[in-house]
Amino acid sequence: MTTNIILLGPPGAGKGTQARRLVEERDLVQLSTGDMLREARTSGTEMGKVVAEVMDKGQLVTDEIVIGLIREKLEDTKAAGFIFDGFPRTLRQADALEDLLSGMGQKIDAVIEMQVDDGALVDRVSGRYTCGNCGEVYHDTTRPSAKEGVCDVCGSTDLRRRADDNAESLKTRLLEYYKKTSPLIGYYYAKQKLRPVDALAEIGKVGHEIAGILGQPVEA
Ligand code: AP5
Repeated sequence: MTTNIILLGPPGAGKGTQARRLVEERDLVQLSTGDMLREARTSGTEMGKVVAEVMDKGQLVTDEIVIGLIREKLEDTKAAGFIFDGFPRTLRQADALEDLLSGMGQKIDAVIEMQVDDGALVDRVSGRYTCGNCGEVYHDTTRPSAKEGVCDVCGSTDLRRRADDNAESLKTRLLEYYKKTSPLIGYYYAKQKLRPVDALAEIGKVGHEIAGILGQPVEA
């Protein structure tokens, strides 16, 4: 049985944090379009330059580029299921995902809607840093690494802050979310896939609520 999950929520809601927990607990693969695009922007290609400019402003990258990246990953990856982190973000992306999965004889099983107050998000993104080597996500106050400047998971000292994690870009990212992504809440509600969670709770509690929705992990 495959399990495909979408993590839906505004910037800083904790999608990446919970996706990594799910990967550890279950035999699933995380597909983060944000991570794919950050990789693309370092490629030095024309597409990478366009992507960098759009991301730094906090706007959405075009549907064509993002759907193309997801299509490639789905074609190339064997998995018991996928966690879609930050995708889909528009109705067009949602329709494309449904078509891609249906072509593989699969479907979306649950859409976890991570509910937060906007007020909490400024603090979440301004305090965030990630490991450049393994992608572990930290926060200055709520989840600092045990040893300052060193990743708990892989020991790397390459801890980074994101170029788009500033108040100005966050304002645009939130506007983009409400304008283009929040209609997906109604879309998945109508499909009876939507499962809201209180993403303002402490990280472990949010994980526990998600586990309650998804049920016991299936043994590989
Ligand atoms: P993306 O990388 O997807 O960023 P985002 O959606 O803005 O989400 P974030 O990564 O900022 O937050 P998150 O919800 O993952 O939170 P996290 O777990 O890190 O996208 C970046 C850009 O790429 C977009 O702006 C756009 O330009 C482009 N893009 C990406 N996908 C696209 C698409 N599909 N279409 C078009 N363009 C696309 O947590 C945040 C912080 O809070 C961390 O420090 C964490 O430690 C902390 N934290 C997490 N949970 C909790 C908790 N429960 N309590 C306290 N602290 C917590």
